[in-house]
Amino acid sequence: MSYVLGIDLGTSSLKGLLVDQSGKVVASASADYGLIHLQPGYSEQYPSDWVVACDKVFEELVETVSDFTTGLEGISFSGQMHSLVLLDENSEVLRPAILWNDTRTTAQCRTIEEKLGDKLLGITRNLALEGFTLPKILWVQENEPEVWSKVRQLMLPKDYLGFYLTGNYHTDLSDAAGTLLLDVEKAEWSEEVANIFDIPLSYLPKAVGASEQVGTVRAELKERFGLQKEVTVFAGGADNACAAVGAGILSSEVGMASIGTSGVFLSYEGKETPDYEGKLHFFNHALSESYYSMGVTLAAGHSLNWFRDTFAKEQSFSDLLAPISQIPAGSDGLLFTPYIVGERTPHVDSSIRGSFIGIDTSHTLAHFSRSVLEGITFSLKDSQRLMSEVAGKTFTRIVSVGGGAKNKDWLQMQADIFNAEIVALTAEQGPGLGAAMLAALGCGWFKDIESCAETFVEYTEAVKPIPENVAVYADVYEDYKRIYPNVKKIK
Ligand code: XUL
Repeated sequence: MSYVLGIDLGTSSLKGLLVDQSGKVVASASADYGLIHLQPGYSEQYPSDWVVACDKVFEELVETVSDFTTGLEGISFSGQMHSLVLLDENSEVLRPAILWNDTRTTAQCRTIEEKLGDKLLGITRNLALEGFTLPKILWVQENEPEVWSKVRQLMLPKDYLGFYLTGNYHTDLSDAAGTLLLDVEKAEWSEEVANIFDIPLSYLPKAVGASEQVGTVRAELKERFGLQKEVTVFAGGADNACAAVGAGILSSEVGMASIGTSGVFLSYEGKETPDYEGKLHFFNHALSESYYSMGVTLAAGHSLNWFRDTFAKEQSFSDLLAPISQIPAGSDGLLFTPYIVGERTPHVDSSIRGSFIGIDTSHTLAHFSRSVLEGITFSLKDSQRLMSEVAGKTFTRIVSVGGGAKNKDWLQMQADIFNAEIVALTAEQGPGLGAAMLAALGCGWFKDIESCAETFVEYTEAVKPIPENVAVYADVYEDYKRIYPNVKKIK
């Protein structure tokens, strides 16, 4: 049997998906790692933890799949976006990676706006946001000059794993776009931006297409894991781009609502490069010569995790969410905004915080649980609305992936709040499947991504909006929208 391995380097774990030529996931393995929060707003991780997790995943697959070592042909990645990895001249990691959900860089974002002016949107096509890579680089330059003086290579998380596996430095365009150092339309590093911030171009890895070969597995690792064939490694892509590939989002009428730690509402743009004036993120795709746009809710799954850990630690998620079907749409007037770590879309505001509004003595834990899910979904609706307002987009269907697809009440809620037909994936595997598809494409198993998706991606039956709930949610959403401008005044 021939296999490809999709490795998803996430925020809390690394998952490997082993997929055969029929698109069947024959095995998966995962290993967790922690986050370091030295101060409020700081979020870091040791790149060495990713390597340990990657080794564990390989070891488990060697042990559990009898023909893994003879069948593995290709590997590709999906990676948490924007997080900054710094290497010295000996390719040693200089400090823990500063992650996408670290918000220490507000001052650096203002500097970027000041120094780049119109070029910021003109070249990078995005706003300067705390989560992106360039503000993190500036923070290191300003606060840790001794570290900066030793830097010779800037990397993104999945590229560090690529380097570990192959010994080569590379990135791909979808991840490069999230740094604010890429000229998005030209699909090349912007010398102009790099010069303005004193970043030598030699520090930036070569940016290639996501399904392009970046090397083969190093001899030492090949031997350690007993791999029999030459295993080709492909660049891979940003996790949101890979999630879209794995969910078969290959036309602009189909949107994607993804709920992981963060939440994303994503739209495929193809070759079009519309000007959203930074209101939506606009990035190069993991598919060649194409783009996607998206809005981001910083704390989507994170809000639900926080809620359970704080108020119902003893309950499993399924026990906690089981009674929400008894609560009417709109949670009897209880509203939640998921701004617990700040927000990105549509409110670019790292200091806003979340709220429960309208608490009444009749409200139970189930009302709170339902309102948390509704608040997360309204926040993604904000991005859907923005896409309709600034780009005139309407979606005939929306593919729900991640936490929101695992609960039937949440799927119905999405259909009712987005007022669109919702489908999930029959055997959802997350962005790792997109990574496996990139490897399959790179290995030449398919002539194009469409035929790969036909084999790899299968949807559940559609969940249709219930008209009465759509009407209730349309009203409640108007109230939800009024919370931000009012709460902003009292933060
Ligand atoms: C996207 C973003 C997050 C991370 C999560 O801009 O910051 O969705 O990619 O890994």
